[in-house]
Amino acid sequence: MLLSNSLAISHEIIKRIVKQGDTVVDATMGNGNDTLLLAELVGEKGKVYSFDIQEAALINTEKKLKEAGVSNIVELIRDGHQNIKEYVPEGIRAVMFNLGYLPKGDHSIGTKADTTIEALEKSMELLMDGGIIMMVIYYGGDSGFEEKEAVLEYVKTIDCKKYSVLMCDFTNQINCPPIAVCIEKVRK
Ligand SMILES: C[S@@+](CC[C@H](N)C(=O)[O-])C[C@H]1O[C@@H](n2cnc3c(N)ncnc32)[C@H](O)[C@@H]1O
Repeated sequence: MLLSNSLAISHEIIKRIVKQGDTVVDATMGNGNDTLLLAELVGEKGKVYSFDIQEAALINTEKKLKEAGVSNIVELIRDGHQNIKEYVPEGIRAVMFNLGYLPKGDHSIGTKADTTIEALEKSMELLMDGGIIMMVIYYGGDSGFEEKEAVLEYVKTIDCKKYSVLMCDFTNQINCPPIAVCIEKVRK
């Protein structure tokens, strides 16, 4: 089903855009599900940079990548995604963000509005023409609403001559359904 949830939509868009040999980023590694998807899509000639601030995320992700035989494609970075420019070169095809806290982890260590917006701004600068940022925003419960509101306000201000911004909100669902936002760098 195409319209099942925002995570499925985000994966469909990523699968369409990311090609073998690309350089891409998982800005919120967590348990490594998106990192693994990206590694499979870029293949042996590609490169994935994956960020998280928690040791637990790196341990879980490294195990997953080793089991799948793709750990050589991925650089795991224990640092905040707001420091992306210290690690990642210009010309990347895609950046994935899943906002919120580590599933089955510490709910008090989640993404935050100010660092998320800083990371989005820097990621947009690193994208190649036609490249995308794919973000899924989890909110409500332990995540609260502050980050979601700040990020959605921010993306409305992005220059439409340089980037297109699409938001998918499951408007008739209950219990704070995650929102997908895609930012595409306009081709010159
Ligand atoms: C919703 S989880 C990500 C789930 C992940 N995509 C997966 O496939 O399992 C959000 C993650 O963002 C991490 N995080 C929080 N602040 C961060 C920051 N400033 N930079 C990088 N990661 C951060 C958290 O530690 C948490 O693991």
